[in-house]
Amino acid sequence: PPLESLLNLDEIEELAHKKIPQKAWAYYYSSSDDKFSKGYNNQVYRNILLRPRVFLDCTKCDSSTTLLGHKVGLPLFVAPAAMARLGHPDGEAGIARAASKFGAMQIISNNASMTPEQIVADAQPGQVFGWQLYVQNDRKKSEAMLARINKMSDKFKFICLTLDAPVPGKRELDEKQNFLNATPVAAAAKTADEPSRPGGGGVGQQLFWGTAADLTWKITLPWLAKHTKLPIVLKGLQTHEDAYIAAKYAPQVKAVILSNHGGRALDTAPPAIHTLLEIRKYCPEVLDKIEVWVDGGIKRGTDIVKALCLGAKGVGVGRAALFGLGAGGQQGVERTFEILKGEMETCMRLLGAPDVSALGPRNINTRMVERD
Ligand code: FNR
Repeated sequence: PPLESLLNLDEIEELAHKKIPQKAWAYYYSSSDDKFSKGYNNQVYRNILLRPRVFLDCTKCDSSTTLLGHKVGLPLFVAPAAMARLGHPDGEAGIARAASKFGAMQIISNNASMTPEQIVADAQPGQVFGWQLYVQNDRKKSEAMLARINKMSDKFKFICLTLDAPVPGKRELDEKQNFLNATPVAAAAKTADEPSRPGGGGVGQQLFWGTAADLTWKITLPWLAKHTKLPIVLKGLQTHEDAYIAAKYAPQVKAVILSNHGGRALDTAPPAIHTLLEIRKYCPEVLDKIEVWVDGGIKRGTDIVKALCLGAKGVGVGRAALFGLGAGGQQGVERTFEILKGEMETCMRLLGAPDVSALGPRNINTRMVERD
């Protein structure tokens, strides 16, 4: 079907499922254990109701904003997700070209299937990237990558350190697929220069081989400061306590991403919205000290708007970008952005909000979520 005939993210996902290799589907779609957190990440948005105001001029609607002081066309960003080429040859560079058309920010995975140089090769002036780091047991490897990223600081504006997956979750769909089709994925990975990896487990487990599980506030942040001047964004925070600690590390730490890794790490971990509500209740000052971004379960423009109303500055999509790519390469990702931007602007107009700064807690009712 022509991409324009796909009207929502579910339809794009359905097409991607038909088009991409089974192995890619199993890796992208999978989540941990009973898949509760993955489902609830999306469901939680159904439990937040909107409170539209009427009799307001909504001829114009501006969905642009800033992230870490950089102007972006949308509060929507591409979360780091490994192995885009497993689903489509356009890969992470195709996502980057699509993002540039919307002025959207993109975070490149430590386990991307293309080099960072290749991915940003066609970047437009002002296009913003972050680079996501999984610190390796062999610190020298991570230090070498940081040195490479530092050299491209006109494009890479921050380092995103992921903390919610010191070990991979138990993703059974991905593991099962590996049993059925035991071709090692390591050949396709950027880190394929590493000697022998154990063959078992799914794509996720193979990619995690060599990742450090011994990171701490006191040791890892000073180590990072030694190897990069770029600001740090901490990804995978799931409690108000950790958000509070993170804010104490400002200005080195400039933002946190509330995330449970799309339900791929600890199952029954909370969706970002719960953590955001905790922060508002116990330590709202965090929202003034650092930027708070969220990801997980975003399927509709209304989901994005609800997170913004609660104080999130940026809202990320992981699978949606990969499924857009799988459905139609770069153009599929463009269609994904177009749908989300359109839905978001319609939502803002119907709420009576002419721009992102007009959104606040008064635009939503969270009573159902606070009860659960
Ligand atoms: C991810 N995610 C992820 N996160 C990260 O920090 N580094 C990574 O390499 C990856 N890799 C990855 C691969 C795939 C296939 C998926 C689906 C996800 C997590 C990602 O950044 C994000 O937190 C979630 O994807 C958000 O949830 P949704 O949007 O997929 O529901």
